[in-house]
Amino acid sequence: MKQVKDAGLRAVAIGAGVIVLAAVVIGVFRFQPHAILQGALPPSGPRVPIPTVDAATLVQGEAIYKREKCTACHTMTGVPIGGIPDLLHEGQRNADIAWQMSNLREHKRIHPNSDMGNYDKLPPDDLRALASYLATRE
Ligand code: HEC
Repeated sequence: MKQVKDAGLRAVAIGAGVIVLAAVVIGVFRFQPHAILQGALPPSGPRVPIPTVDAATLVQGEAIYKREKCTACHTMTGVPIGGIPDLLHEGQRNADIAWQMSNLREHKRIHPNSDMGNYDKLPPDDLRALASYLATRE
């Protein structure tokens, strides 16, 4: 009798396990592509350590930041204005240089209603320097 009960419990446990697994798999496939289509590029966040970038690239990146007038919208004082992200500690949010490059190149795809344009005309070298500058703001 005990064995029969154990077998029944095991069947229930396995059944529950299968349902949970199926829910997770469906959840991932159902919502992941959706999120990507919506352009919800997740912040690279603390998963990525702040990269080491040589000083010359950072000087170049800062010059491009000013030349492209990013300062027209973004502060780098720690105090955001008008709900636009302050970039003083941008590296703590997005330390991934590749993430920064796509956020600049295709900003409109990620945030279709944004006032920030796509910086897709920048030469790759400039784009990388600018992205490196942003990713290293600790
Ligand atoms: C017209 C205003 C405007 C300009 C110009 C602009 N941005 Fe933005 N930027 C925004 C807004 C608004 C956001 C918030 C996301 C959104 O709604 O687009 C943003 C988001 C960002 C982010 C993500 C910040 C985070 O941590 O969430 C970065 C990095 C960034 N901008 C960098 C730049 C750089 C570099 C330039 C210049 C090449 C620039 N932006 C020019 C308005 C602007």
